[in-house]
Amino acid sequence: MKSFKAFLIEQDAERKVTAGFQTLSEDRLDKGDVLIRVAYSSINYKDALAATGKGRIIRRYPCIGGIDLAGVVERSAAPRFKPGDQVIATSYDLGVAHHGGYAEYALVPGGWVLPLPDGMEMRQAMALGTAGFTAALGVQRMEENGLKPENGAVIVTGATGGVGSLAIDMLAGRGYEVVALTGKPEQADWLKSIGASRVILRSELDLANIKPLDKGVWAGAVDNLGGDVLAWIISGMKPWGTIASIGLAASTDLNTTVMPFILRGASLLGIDSGYAPAAIRERVWARLASDLRPRHLDALTREVAFETLPAEFEHFIAGKAHGRVVVRIDS
Ligand SMILES: NC(=O)c1ccc[n+]([C@@H]2O[C@H](COP(=O)([O-])OP(=O)(O)OC[C@H]3O[C@@H](n4cnc5c(N)ncnc54)[C@H](OP(=O)(O)O)[C@@H]3O)[C@@H](O)[C@H]2O)c1
Repeated sequence: MKSFKAFLIEQDAERKVTAGFQTLSEDRLDKGDVLIRVAYSSINYKDALAATGKGRIIRRYPCIGGIDLAGVVERSAAPRFKPGDQVIATSYDLGVAHHGGYAEYALVPGGWVLPLPDGMEMRQAMALGTAGFTAALGVQRMEENGLKPENGAVIVTGATGGVGSLAIDMLAGRGYEVVALTGKPEQADWLKSIGASRVILRSELDLANIKPLDKGVWAGAVDNLGGDVLAWIISGMKPWGTIASIGLAASTDLNTTVMPFILRGASLLGIDSGYAPAAIRERVWARLASDLRPRHLDALTREVAFETLPAEFEHFIAGKAHGRVVVRIDS
């Protein structure tokens, strides 16, 4: 490889973010132990924020975007990998402070790389990507804290998004009654088709009048929004209910009271996919290939060509995307 195609995100002297395709020489790769010929990447909300400059995500400019990648090892100084191995790498500094998956090649530290889980294809791994890993980590942490199907309903917010739709699919597959909260009435049937037993529209909620303790209806919750919606969920937790706090699509704020925590034993669990310890990461990916494998992965995934990235980002920023988007890099 003398040069490779990449989607590079840059910042000018006025801190304006620009991004586009460039052909880079091999010496522009970051430092790392494992050289990967990238086959697939994916689009997460974070990728769209980073590439459009709508969110201050990038910590080192210029940076090739893409927090997820799957590909084939070309060469490796890490003893665990050899040329020809199919591997995945998600999160850590990828696409944020180290060149990411929107490129034909990536050179990454060996500790960030995992073998492709048994029984999973590279495209499927990217259909899951950080979104799937995060949803599965949320389910795992809620179950470690006592969540079981017989405890009652689990609400999933940002339901049509990548994390939300995969969480619905995984939870329904494990026998939970899943309630989807969405802003998209036109996707209600789709949400039911992937496992939601009921759909609530955000416009139906009275978020201006959240009680410190409302009627306890949720045994569990996967929250992708933060803000008033999370406050509303917290006030409606059943005794000993568990919430996986994953996202901030609506707000980084949280205005609540301690009442649900000290009178109902509710737990608010923080989910950080970025720097989850390696042992947990391997365990969660193994579960994504087995008992947490979504049953409708194909139905909730769309594949797009590398060249279409800029238009796809606008979709995400406009809140119009639904499900998961896999990016074919090596076409
Ligand atoms: N903690 C972690 O490690 C981690 C990992 C991955 C993602 N995340 C975060 O989790 C969230 C979801 O990520 P994703 O990749 O699934 O994103 P996504 O595919 O863009 O989905 C986000 C969903 O949230 C809803 N939404 C978007 N903008 C909104 C707004 N302004 N107000 C209310 N709802 C809004 C929409 O769903 P509906 O229309 O169906 O409501 C949208 O589909 C993001 O905040 C992301 O940054 C965190």
